[in-house]
Amino acid sequence: MAWSSFHCSFLLVIPNIPANAKWAQNGVTVAGSYGKGNDTNQLYGFYCLFVDDDQTVGIADYVNNRIIQWKKDDTNGQVVAGGNGKGSGLNQLNGPMHVLIDKETDSLIICDSWNRRVVRWSRRSGTTQGEILVGNIRCYGLAMDDQRYLYFSGKHKDEVRRYQLGDNTGTLVAGDNGKGTGLNQLNTSTYLFVDQQQTVYVSDWDNHRVMKWSKGATEGIVVAGGQGTGNALTQLSYPQGLFVDTLGTVYVAEQGNNRVTRWPQGATQGTVIVGGNGAGAGANQFWAPMCLSFDRYGNLYVVDYYNKRVQRFSLEGEFRCAV
Ligand SMILES: *[C@@H]1O[C@H](CO)[C@@H](O)[C@H](O)[C@H]1NC(C)=O
Ligand SMILES: *[C@@H]1O[C@H](CO)[C@@H](O)[C@H](O)[C@H]1NC(C)=O
Repeated sequence: MAWSSFHCSFLLVIPNIPANAKWAQNGVTVAGSYGKGNDTNQLYGFYCLFVDDDQTVGIADYVNNRIIQWKKDDTNGQVVAGGNGKGSGLNQLNGPMHVLIDKETDSLIICDSWNRRVVRWSRRSGTTQGEILVGNIRCYGLAMDDQRYLYFSGKHKDEVRRYQLGDNTGTLVAGDNGKGTGLNQLNTSTYLFVDQQQTVYVSDWDNHRVMKWSKGATEGIVVAGGQGTGNALTQLSYPQGLFVDTLGTVYVAEQGNNRVTRWPQGATQGTVIVGGNGAGAGANQFWAPMCLSFDRYGNLYVVDYYNKRVQRFSLEGEFRCAV
């Protein structure tokens, strides 16, 4: 197990997932699945999550207009932002689409989509309201890089923009050449991932592909799919949540195929790592997987949209780190 502790030390930053790693095929529900509603054990129409170092899972609970987090093994969540009904007050959210942790300020950064703003809520207990970071933007995807630049995609826009905190205009980093299938185009940009070199990965939903735009590039390259919609291993179907590990391997949740596939750098086809067993509520199934993330031990978390649950898939035996 000598290599394992070496490998685990990497996980403190970004999981460095071995190329041949495997995950349990049955997921464990770590949040939700108690039907729709606004009790603290329920979730209602949500797309995205974060996973903290202590395996706390936080969810942008879209229809309930709140961010709710589950500590590991909790049966009820705790509301940490919003939860004061739909509205535009600083203590409210309206359709939170996405959430991430800003470690440096120990706060949450939230795409408050129908309020057309990005807000920050401190994670200190007793916080009752947020502050506006960026206004006049209806975002869908959200990411932050090492230098604390924020990146947004808009569901009805075909571009990705980067914002420095305090700057309301932003810089275009991908797309904005009209809808289309060209390498400099996107057709509905959804989820994002940004790596340490400020390379932007974006799910190009209607083109059934994942694009990679290096910093300063004028066009992207296809790193997954791009062969039309279908369930062959060379294809994606309605890609959503994304993650890219330190080896450049792309993990993508496919809404249309109810599976998560993994695409090593340069690969022309993916491998199914979980799901792919049809739409359903079984432990090895999804019904429209959305956001995905890993914890620092390499376990995979997936938002299973229509099942209203978050599923965790454990990294298997020999690849697992001691917790
Ligand atoms: C929770 O749901 C109930 C029933 O639909 C509703 O009356 C109540 O206003 C909701 N609470 C919040 C904070 O949205
Ligand atoms: C974008 O995707 C939609 C849905 O598949 C399609 O109808 C439309 O033609 C596409 N637009 C372009 C310009 O490729």
